[in-house]
Formats: sequence, C-alpha cells, structure tokens
Amino acid sequence: MKRALITGGSYGIGYALAKKFAKNGVEVILIARTEEKLLEVKKEIEKDGGKSYIFPADLTKTNLEELFNRIYSEYEFDTLVNNAGFGTIGKFYELDIKKELEMIELNVKVLVELSHHFLSRRIKEGKGGTLINISSLAGFFPIPYFATYSATKAFVLSFSEAIRREVEDKKIKVITICPGGVKTEFQKRAGIKDDIYSLQNYLTADELADYVWEAVKKSKSPFVPGPANKIYSYIVRITPIPLITKLGKIFMKMRLK
Ligand SMILES: NC(=O)c1ccc[n+]([C@@H]2O[C@H](COP(=O)([O-])OP(=O)(O)OC[C@H]3O[C@@H](n4cnc5c(N)ncnc54)[C@H](OP(=O)(O)O)[C@@H]3O)[C@@H](O)[C@H]2O)c1
Repeated sequence: MKRALITGGSYGIGYALAKKFAKNGVEVILIARTEEKLLEVKKEIEKDGGKSYIFPADLTKTNLEELFNRIYSEYEFDTLVNNAGFGTIGKFYELDIKKELEMIELNVKVLVELSHHFLSRRIKEGKGGTLINISSLAGFFPIPYFATYSATKAFVLSFSEAIRREVEDKKIKVITICPGGVKTEFQKRAGIKDDIYSLQNYLTADELADYVWEAVKKSKSPFVPGPANKIYSYIVRITPIPLITKLGKIFMKMRLK
C-alpha cells in the first residue's frame, strides 16, 4: 500500500484509519463533507510526518465518476477504503424516508460505484490493489429498529465477499470489515442513547484501526474485530432468523431514545 483513498476520513473510523495508514508510510486522500475538519486532520497527519490530500465533497451529491477520475489521474492510489456511512435508529415507519433513502445511497450505491471504478481501473492497468469495505456486525442479521441500516450492511458484506472471489487472481485483495460498536460520531448521528457505552464492550476508533491494519496485512475477510464481537458474530449466524430478530428487538429497544 502506497496511497489510499478513504471516504469519510474526517471523523471516527475513517479518521483513525487515516492516522494509522499515515503512520505506516501510506499517503492518504480523504473525502468528507466538512472542509474545516478535513483541514484539521490534514494538519495533524502532516505534523506527524505523514502526507495527505483532501477533497471536500458530499458523495451523495457528486458525480462520482468525474471525482474518481480527477483524483486518480492526479494522485494514483492503490487502496480504496469505502468507509463513509451512517445509520438511523427507530421504528422504520416513523423515520424520515428521505434519510433512509440517503442512507441507501451512501452506504450502498456510493460504495458500489466507487468499488467499480477502482477495480475496473486497476485491473485494466494490470495493477494490484486493496479494496476495504466497511460493513458491520449489523450486516450478519436483520435488526429491528435498525432495519435499513442492517440491510445496507448486509448488502456490503454479501457484495464485497462475492467480488473478493472474482478478483482474487488479479493481485487485488478485497477485505470486508465488520465492526461491532465503536465510539464515534455515529451513535449521536444515528440517535442512539449515550449510555449505550456502558451496555456493550465498545472499541475506540484507534483500536479498530489497529485491527483493520492486521486484517489487511493477513488478508482476512470478512473480518470481525475483537474477540467478543467474533463470538457474537458466530452466534448470530447460527441462530434462526425468527429467534435472532426477537432477541434483537429486545436489545434494540434499550437503545431507542
Ligand atoms: N461506529 C460504529 O459503532 C460502527 C460500527 C460498525 C460499522 N460502522 C461503519 O463505519 C463507517 C464509519 O462510521 P463512523 O462510526 O466512523 O461514523 P462517523 O464518526 O459519523 O464518521 C462518518 C464519516 O463519514 C463522513 N460522511 C458522512 N456522510 C457523508 C457524505 N454524504 N459524503 C461524504 N462523507 C460523508 C463524515 O464526515 P462529514 O460529516 O464531514 O461528511 C465522517 O467523516 C460507517 O460506514 C459505519 O456504518 C460504524
């Protein structure tokens, strides 16, 4: 890995990944909406001797092909991290449908389009690379009150693992990361109660970034970071859907504001 494009590199997991990659000599290209925050991150990375480039953009309102080509032709990158995403908690029929559709746009459509531009370009040029897609533990099962979000992350998991096989003979690694809870802006933006941190073993974004770095080095995918989350992911995979949704409903009710 020499240069990585990270979507959502201004806060949370994307920001922690940017710092981790830069510390390991990878130049980072960061996209997010908030320019001031991107400038702060750039300053911090460069203070520590790293190299970074920033592109403020709302990925749901941007011509992605044009943006991808513009960045790639100037700063060819061998790694793409599709990280930008958000969730909403609540009864599906009471949530703002515009927000639900925007979530599908960002978590799914943007990820698919950027993955396509990246893979087709690298393969056409006969070059290798790494594609890291951020799914979630929520991608392993349907979650009541987190319905659209868990469905978007199930899509990311299924899609990424399928294309991983398609490109495995092309010197390209596709890695799906499925984190459990991580302390970031995500919870506040999703409308999740603050006291949730005491209910579950949350990782910090920096701890998660260390796990991601290991997963990429060892090419492990799908990768569930943290021993407790790993056990949890096995349990939800072997539990029948009617039972896991019943248990999920009880657990998620505690998270509603
Ligand atoms: N935190 C968790 O517990 C957790 C667990 C599992 C999976 N994940 C996944 O991890 C990923 C990162 O989440 P996070 O926890 O780091 O959340 P976060 O702290 O809210 O960060 C989200 C990042 O995405 C950017 N972003 C949001 N909307 C965007 C848009 N339309 N265009 C461009 N950039 C946009 C945000 O910056 P701006 O607001 O400035 O645009 C920010 O940099 C998400 O895909 C999430 O689903 C999170």
